[in-house]
Amino acid sequence: MQYGYFDEKNKEYLITKPNTPAPWANYLGSPEYGAIISGNAGGYSFVKSGANGRHIRYHFNSKDEPGRYIYVRDLENGDYWSGSWQPVGKDLEQYKSVCHHGTGYTNIVAEYDSIRTETLYYVPMNKTYEVWRMKVRNDGSKPRKLALFGFVEFTNSNNYEQDTVNLQYTLFTSRTYYKNNKILQVINENTPEEQSWRFFGAAGAEVTGYDGDRDTFLGDYRGYGNPASVENGQCANSLNYNTNSCGVLQINVDLQPGEEKEVAFLLGQYEEQGASEVLSHYKDLAVVDKELEELKTFWHSKLNRFQVQTPSDNLNNMINTWNAYQCFITFIWSRAASFQYCGLRNGLGYRDTVQDIQGIIHLDHEMALERLRLMISAQVSNGGGLPLVKFDHNPGHEGTPDDPEYVRETGHPHYRADDALWLFPTVIKYLNESGNWDFTDEVIPYSDRGEATVYEHLRQALQFSLDRMGAHGMPVGLHADWNDCLRLGAKGESLFVAFQLYMAFKVFIDIAQNKNKPEDAAWAQTLLEELDENIQKHAWEKDQFVRGFTEDNYTIGSWENDEAKIWLNPQSWAVLSGAARPDQAKLAMDKVYENLRTDYGTMLFYPPFRKYGLPVALMALFNASTKENAGIFSQPQGWLILAETMIGNGDRAFEYFLDCSPASMNDKAEIRKLEPYVHGQFVESKDSPYQGRAHVHWLTGTASTVMVSLVEGIMGIQPQFDGLRINPCVPSDWKTFSMVREFRGKKLNIQVENQNGVEKGVSRLIINGKEIQGNLIPVAEMKDDNQVQVFMG
Ligand code: GLC
Repeated sequence: MQYGYFDEKNKEYLITKPNTPAPWANYLGSPEYGAIISGNAGGYSFVKSGANGRHIRYHFNSKDEPGRYIYVRDLENGDYWSGSWQPVGKDLEQYKSVCHHGTGYTNIVAEYDSIRTETLYYVPMNKTYEVWRMKVRNDGSKPRKLALFGFVEFTNSNNYEQDTVNLQYTLFTSRTYYKNNKILQVINENTPEEQSWRFFGAAGAEVTGYDGDRDTFLGDYRGYGNPASVENGQCANSLNYNTNSCGVLQINVDLQPGEEKEVAFLLGQYEEQGASEVLSHYKDLAVVDKELEELKTFWHSKLNRFQVQTPSDNLNNMINTWNAYQCFITFIWSRAASFQYCGLRNGLGYRDTVQDIQGIIHLDHEMALERLRLMISAQVSNGGGLPLVKFDHNPGHEGTPDDPEYVRETGHPHYRADDALWLFPTVIKYLNESGNWDFTDEVIPYSDRGEATVYEHLRQALQFSLDRMGAHGMPVGLHADWNDCLRLGAKGESLFVAFQLYMAFKVFIDIAQNKNKPEDAAWAQTLLEELDENIQKHAWEKDQFVRGFTEDNYTIGSWENDEAKIWLNPQSWAVLSGAARPDQAKLAMDKVYENLRTDYGTMLFYPPFRKYGLPVALMALFNASTKENAGIFSQPQGWLILAETMIGNGDRAFEYFLDCSPASMNDKAEIRKLEPYVHGQFVESKDSPYQGRAHVHWLTGTASTVMVSLVEGIMGIQPQFDGLRINPCVPSDWKTFSMVREFRGKKLNIQVENQNGVEKGVSRLIINGKEIQGNLIPVAEMKDDNQVQVFMG
């Protein structure tokens, strides 16, 4: 079933049926002032931390309630509804709504009983409050008398857990006031050091009633769908003292036929003075449209740095808007806050963040650089990464994962084997995109002590693995590799990390040669060859690579096993790293296709673990076909697509894209459940009774892996040190397609012809009328604006 559609031109997704099978969310603002909102206006807001700076409530794991509600009541006939379909939930035969989720804003248009409302929610650029602007119009033929009730439920503590569980304390710390068109809530009023303020105010109209006490507003034994004050048509002018706070502001509106009026509600963590200043900024509500334009310009100009027109709308929507936007959201928000992440993670996961950076490099390498510096400064001087980089990370002064105090503070014991190795693909992408190779000489501190150039940091990351090699000459798996659930320990070995290290050596050799350090390159080359030999000798099994070896030399991912016989990542990473020989690549990738592919994506391995589990295979804790236990983990789908493009299989790469693209499920949303415009963390696979159902929306490394596979793999846009390589790998039935790409300050309009219907291979390349040998356009050939013709086949 379909609940909405993509509006590519406006970069929006439109939800036309509000009864979506899960809350379909959007992100407003940034973690400086963050707001999450569903198509039914459910969600929450916070300042700086979802867990420690939360000012409005949301009931996790429940009914997408409460949220930012504006109730509308007809003062003559007593009927009432809400500007979003929920919470009142009128019959959808009579209530029509379209929710526009856009880049940094959500606009919900609703029509009911000849009244049209349009409620726009956003956080203005660089501001720390949110705006809800409602336009209300009388589309009927008789005058109407309406009351609008803006509603928000405040937390009683900035700390979300305290607000939820420590009621014998938090209930007695807050109270509300009403002053000049706004409700003010104060927590810890008598202790200035602890005090905090929130406000909910109205601009553009006079307030005719208010409630600051939630239970009075809702009334006894009622829910958000039928609050007593709304039903009465008049707020009780209540204030909270020792119960639960809310902000409710009533505004009465008379409308002649055809007449439209507008009001704005403002919400944030300000005390009276600051709140009044915010309100006065909205004296003239014309400022709202201006602020909305600013947001669109900000986001669209970023996204427009790479745009494609291909025969697939699905792909166009993903590359041009939604996958790209999700990359930015994941990059900016990390795993901070969603409808699954409650905000409790007090920092940035090392591997997640270094991977997230990759997803935005082609659109904003400067933004990427800042984060990359931070992550390099979270590398320990022994070369490993801190599993969690705290928001208040203090380079040069952090403990290390060996240190009990660090473990106590972060809850993250021990090193992961993969963390620092993610730097290699990310750093090289940054260097090739920006051309800023001086970055390799930049001096950055280690997290615990000392400092080094970026180049030395990379070398040290190699050393970390080299210092931790196992019996088969491959890196050990430590507390986890990419797979959080695989605990191979200090002696068991991980093929995933082996392939990462393989790739890392190659990147390092590239950089060393570029910096004219032949001895370093030779050092890495020798080690690469040794690793290669060991992989070939121990890890190849006729037609597949194994996943690892445990301390007691049990082979994980062997065809001989009963469970988890074949794994996806070792096959795709063998190709990505270049370790697979061409015949191995073909055999292994075919085996994946035959054994792991499903209509909803490709499983992490098969069959699921049911007998073999702890202490090594922690994924056995999950139900079969779920998450890391043979679910369709989404992140590896990007690696799979990219690997297929590397061996020239455009048809298959595209098939894999269609399998995992959220947009492919737009008309089967009742199966997938999650937003059809964003990737989730995983999809249930074939041993689940709910095959095809996706989970954990928005904040997932999938955004970046799939984006990279589309941009570099399928579209074949591959920045290099001295230019831009164009080497698409596409379905054979694509005859023509085009792209617009910014690269090092130049604009390239690229038109590709594939009249012979090949999957890969550029035969001619012409830039501004001049033919170039090969498929690399040197920077020297680029003007400010360029016409590029590419012929495949
Ligand atoms: C989750 C984690 C990520 C990990 C993956 C596989 O997505 O955020 O760090 O690599 O699971 O276990």
